[in-house]
Amino acid sequence: MTTRAVIAGVGHYLPERIVPNSEFEQTLDTTDAWIRSRSGIARRHFAAEGETTSHMAVKAAQRALKDAGMTPDDVDAIVVATSTPDLTFPSSATMVQAQLGMTRGFAFDVQAVCAGFIYALGNANALIVSGQAERVLVIGAETFSRLMDWTDRSTCVLFGDGAGAVLLDAQPGNGDADDRGILAVDLNSDGRHRDILYVDGGVSTQTVGHLRMEGREVFRHAVEKLAATSSAALQKTGLTKADIDWIVPHQANIRIIRGTAKKLEIPMEKVVVTVQDHGNTSAASIPLALSVGKADGKLNKGELLVTEAIGGGLAWGAVALRW
Ligand code: ACO
Repeated sequence: MTTRAVIAGVGHYLPERIVPNSEFEQTLDTTDAWIRSRSGIARRHFAAEGETTSHMAVKAAQRALKDAGMTPDDVDAIVVATSTPDLTFPSSATMVQAQLGMTRGFAFDVQAVCAGFIYALGNANALIVSGQAERVLVIGAETFSRLMDWTDRSTCVLFGDGAGAVLLDAQPGNGDADDRGILAVDLNSDGRHRDILYVDGGVSTQTVGHLRMEGREVFRHAVEKLAATSSAALQKTGLTKADIDWIVPHQANIRIIRGTAKKLEIPMEKVVVTVQDHGNTSAASIPLALSVGKADGKLNKGELLVTEAIGGGLAWGAVALRW
C-alpha cells in the first residue's frame, strides 16, 4: 500500500476592493486595451489598509477546512507559501495556526515567490508520504500590492492580492497512476537569473524595496521552463499528455499560459484561467485557480491535473495529481 496526499478540500479569499485597469489610466501612461492585450488582465483585488497576508490566509484556510468537512483540530501541519509575510518573523504559518485556534502540530513558511505554492505542495506531500503528518493545510497568500512601485507601469498593473488553500489528507493508494492525490512533483531553480525578477530591498540590506522585472526576459524563460517541468512531472507518473484533463497554471499572463499550453499540445479548453479577474497573485494564484475552477464545476473527482509555476529566483516546478 502507498500513502497518497489527496486534496480533500479547497477554498479561497479575495479582498473586497476590485481595481479595474481603467483606474491605472488616471495615474499612469497606460490603457485598459494595452494591459488586456499584453497580459490578459482586466481587474485585480487589492487588500484594504491593515488587511494582511495572514488575515487572508486564515479566511482561505477556513473555507478549505469547511469544504473538507474538517476542523483545525484535524490538522497536523500548516505550510504557507508567501513572499509578502506580515512580519519578517514569526512565520505567517504560525500566525495562521494561532488565528485558527490550533495549539498542536507545526507550521512554517515556504518562500519561492510565484512558484511558492508548487514548492509548498511538494514539501507537504513529502511530509505525508514519509508519515510525519496526516493532514496538511497548504496555503498560498500574498499582498503583492505592497511591493509595487506605483510609478512603474511595466509592473504595477500586473499584480494583485489574495489567498487560496487546500487541505491535503493522507489516503491509501495502490502506488499506480490511477490513485487519487499527488502522483509526481518536479522542482527546479537557477539562481543565476536573480536580476530579471527581484525586490530591490530586504532586512539584511536595511531597505524596503519594490518589485523589479525585465518582463521580456521572464517571458522568454517562462514558456520553455513551464512546458519542460510539466512534461517532467507527467513523465514521472508514466502517463501521457493525452491523459491530462486539466492544466492549472500559475496565473501571470495569458500569453504565457497560452504559449505553454501550445507547447504541451493541450487545448485551451483544458486550461483553468483566472488571470483576467485576479492578475498575478504570485503564490496565491494556483490555489485560487483550483478553488475557482472547482466552484465552476471544472475539476471533478478522478481527473488528472498538471499544475505549474515559475517565479523569482528563478524557481519553477510542476505537480501532477489526480483530483
Ligand atoms: N502600458 C503601456 N505601455 C507599457 C506598459 C503599460 N502598462 N508597460 C510597458 N509598456 C511599454 C514599454 O515601455 C515598451 O515601450 P517601448 O517599446 O517604447 O520601450 C512597450 O510597452 C513594450 O514593452 P515590452 O516589455 O516589450 O512588452 P511585452 O509585450 O513584453 O509585455 C509584459 C510586457 C506584459 C510585462 C510581458 O513581457 C510579460 O508578461 N512578461 C512576463 C512577466 C510576468 O508574467 N512576470 C511574472 C511571472 S513570474 C512571477 O509571477 C513573479
